[in-house]
Amino acid sequence: MNEFPKGFLWGASTSAYQVEGAAYEDGKKASQQDIINKDSFLQYGFATADVASDQYHHYKEDIELMKEMGFSTYRFSIAWSRVFPDGVGEVNEKGIQYYRNLIEELRKNQIEPIVTLYHYDLPWALVEKYGGWLNRQVVADFTYYASYMINEFKDQVKYWTTINEQSIIVQYWTQKCYIPDEVLSDNQKRYQINHHMNLAQAIANRLVHELVPGGLAGAALGYSPIYPLTSDPKDLMAMQNAQALRNDYYTDVYFKGRYNTAAHIYLEEHGLAPVIEDGDLELLADPAASSDFLALNNYASECAKWCEHGTKQIQWSGVNRTGQKGDISGFETHPGFYEMCANPKLDTTDWDWAIDPQGMEYMLRDLYNRYNKPLMITENGLGSYDVLTEDGKVHDTYRIDFLRENIKAIKRAIDQGVEVLAYCPWSALDLLSTSNGMKKRYGLIYVDRSDEDPKNCTRIRKDSFYWYKKVIESNGAKLDEK
Ligand code: BG6
Repeated sequence: MNEFPKGFLWGASTSAYQVEGAAYEDGKKASQQDIINKDSFLQYGFATADVASDQYHHYKEDIELMKEMGFSTYRFSIAWSRVFPDGVGEVNEKGIQYYRNLIEELRKNQIEPIVTLYHYDLPWALVEKYGGWLNRQVVADFTYYASYMINEFKDQVKYWTTINEQSIIVQYWTQKCYIPDEVLSDNQKRYQINHHMNLAQAIANRLVHELVPGGLAGAALGYSPIYPLTSDPKDLMAMQNAQALRNDYYTDVYFKGRYNTAAHIYLEEHGLAPVIEDGDLELLADPAASSDFLALNNYASECAKWCEHGTKQIQWSGVNRTGQKGDISGFETHPGFYEMCANPKLDTTDWDWAIDPQGMEYMLRDLYNRYNKPLMITENGLGSYDVLTEDGKVHDTYRIDFLRENIKAIKRAIDQGVEVLAYCPWSALDLLSTSNGMKKRYGLIYVDRSDEDPKNCTRIRKDSFYWYKKVIESNGAKLDEK
């Protein structure tokens, strides 16, 4: 009775630079993440992306473990700089061969690949050549790369996610893109990068529709539902404004083929709107470039309250680098529009992310009501300090509790008629966090390494591994068995 719909895809996610390692092996050249993570190593002591979880050398073992858990899907990304080390030009035969092997191994094990074309790791060569995503030339180069990949795997890959988390790239651009010092104060550029990504994802959607028989495409968006702090109507307006700028600004492009009006007006009034060239809006509005589904990366919910005119403007919310609750370095404040704040009703992780499985149901129902398109969860998880016991176990009951409550919330949404295709928690195995190194772990499989020492990256099944196996075996019916 409590089972998920037949054919529902169960799996988990990773991204290339966070899991593969082999950053300079077999012809791969640096991506901007190899450079950014070298810097975080020097600044905060977080691991570099050089080895990460070494999936490049462990992929068969990883797929075996996925098979053991019963995965019917695996969501991962392609490292553009492994396939085209210089961004464009000649393909790196060994690089493309790695993905052929990976996809073949998945297929052999009846695991459906969900492939993300771009997950933060632009080839460094393109940053050096013209500033990467800051320059419109990147759209043409992304098209070159995407059409090669889609063509290569058109018979093996049905589900394509185009660009990972545009909204998060706008918010935290220095972690997700290499931004030179002289550009740092020019916030319009954040939205210019986003506009280039909108064009790129629209073209990728179109390519999937042209090239892949039965292929489906959509972006993977970092999405947090937003609540008003109180029932004061002013807080409700603040919530609506925050929703427009932080969420609808992206989803309207994917499904309505145009920018959200309220958000666009706000950006224009503040000199932040992107430069849009002739033909751009037509491309976004082209039905062939529209998304078939939305892939959602949901970890938390957010909270907004009214912000009086005259308050000091803070453009962007901060980040918690220490892993001690309360160390978040500030909240976004837009006078006369909204201010983000902590939700007093919710507990948080050690990195100040609100824990809110109920928000998963709210998000799914809200998005489905508004766009009526299939949804899939491509990320959802609990970042925590895991402890490897002396007898080689990881008792991550907190993760099991988090995932269980989220799965229940998805089921409630499905029972209310929402079409959900897949559940892929973050992450299949421990990997390099985008903002907090190796200490903040998400995996179902423990990877034995630290920030300082990659050791052998030995794989160890966590308690959540065994629990998730039972969830999948029962198609979501047995959530309480350990
Ligand atoms: C998402 C990203 O933003 O959140 C992942 O798509 C990332 O790449 C995940 O790892 C968790 O964030 P963090 O900063 O804890 O690694």
